[in-house]
Amino acid sequence: MKYLILCMLVIISALSVLAHSDEEHDDDDVTAVEVGEVVVPEHPTYHEHVRPIIEASCNACHSEGRIAAYAPFSDPADVAWLAEDIRFHVVNGIMPPWMPSRQNLPLKNDRSLSDSEIATIAAWAGDGAPLGDPDDNAPAPTEGVGLVEIRADLTLQLDEPYLPDADLLDDYRCFAYPLDIDAPQFITGYDIVPEALEMAHHALVYVLEASAWTLAEAKASEDGKPGWQCYGGPGLRQRARSIGGWTPGAFGVELPPGGGHRIEPSQFIVLQMHYNLWTTRQPDNTRILLQLADGAAELDELTIMSLAAPVEIPCPAGVEGPQCEREAALQRVGELYGDFASRFPNNLLRICSQTVADYADNKGERSIGQCDFPLRNDATLYGVFGHMHELGRSFRMTLNPEGENPVILLDIPRWDFHWQDSYQFVEPLTLKPGDLLRMECVWDNRKADAPRYVVWGEGTSDEMCFATVLAQPG
Ligand code: HEC
Repeated sequence: MKYLILCMLVIISALSVLAHSDEEHDDDDVTAVEVGEVVVPEHPTYHEHVRPIIEASCNACHSEGRIAAYAPFSDPADVAWLAEDIRFHVVNGIMPPWMPSRQNLPLKNDRSLSDSEIATIAAWAGDGAPLGDPDDNAPAPTEGVGLVEIRADLTLQLDEPYLPDADLLDDYRCFAYPLDIDAPQFITGYDIVPEALEMAHHALVYVLEASAWTLAEAKASEDGKPGWQCYGGPGLRQRARSIGGWTPGAFGVELPPGGGHRIEPSQFIVLQMHYNLWTTRQPDNTRILLQLADGAAELDELTIMSLAAPVEIPCPAGVEGPQCEREAALQRVGELYGDFASRFPNNLLRICSQTVADYADNKGERSIGQCDFPLRNDATLYGVFGHMHELGRSFRMTLNPEGENPVILLDIPRWDFHWQDSYQFVEPLTLKPGDLLRMECVWDNRKADAPRYVVWGEGTSDEMCFATVLAQPG
């Protein structure tokens, strides 16, 4: 077999690849990523060179019953027919969808292609996408990037679907589910499967104690429809323990080996759904699939830490009017989501030891939100989930950004609302008191249909700079 060995830099300039360019953040704080050799067969064929890549890196989505079933890659002739389209998506880093950059700490289930794989597909498409000999089917070059398939030991779903309120643009609805288990269990994995995907903008799963059940039932019977309206959280006058969630583009989650979220038969689950009704309004009955392990197993209890940073996004140049005043923004979220929401932006500034003057340099075209979170106790960190809405441009979480060895826990240089996921590190990190997590969000208010001053708020057209960190204390 004949291969061309190309220098990485040549490939980059030739293909203008690697969407993972980092336009938002300065790079001086990170060691350059090691560049390796790019290996491309001289005359790649589908069967010998491209098919193994497609099978390993695309078919988890591009096959029947999967998220991209509309464009299946099962027939070689179809793939060859799509070759130019495939080349475009792959060379520009759009496919496979994988948002973290190459500066990121290595993550589990990394779906991105190697430079050699990208260059092989590009060369094959450029050659007219020859199929080659079906008997030349080389083994898959990587072990494959299948999506996490969890075992559904317990499935939670309502008896009837919920149809969101027609008067709302963003409907936050909570639903309660009793836990049908006889003995304590550990949740070791989960998947949240909305039916109305276009309308579902997030889901959060909480565990609550039995004492809140009566209130949950009372709230659920208030308006004759399943569940109850719930901005902020379940609103059951009890601290709700968050155990996981779903956002567009997220898949099943398997918790790190040896860890889990403990649940007792007396407890119950609350699902908070955010339905955005801008384009569609349909019935939904989201399923929660739980993978369980015996509560007697010696698993460690995992914690989810929630982190939030201020959102202070002024209008872009050329847009003026009362909607560009911060006061108007506070009033707006108060009217929509309650008093708590109108106070939250100022509370966030206080929690982060900032004032609104710290954001005086924010422009509509480029606004940042940032907060530092010093650790007080020892902890093991397993992963990060970052969250913004549709104005987001980039997201970053860094461990000890000003120390000698900053570690980038999550770096998403091109934010895409439709591809959010929770990421787990290949190697868990051990943190000590004094270590510091910095979260940074960047927004562009020109993306808004009708720009206004934007603060933290629950609606899809409001913004958030939010993260959860999967950790184990001690
Ligand atoms: C995690 C799921 C996932 C994986 C893995 C994935 N895709 Fe996709 N792909 C999608 C989805 C979903 C769409 C539909 C567009 C969208 O939502 O972004 C899509 C759309 C596409 C399209 C556009 C088809 C059209 O309508 O013209 C191409 C081409 C494509 N993918 C190629 C690939 C290739 C090649 C791979 C593997 C190297 C791959 N994808 C891996 C989910 C995936």
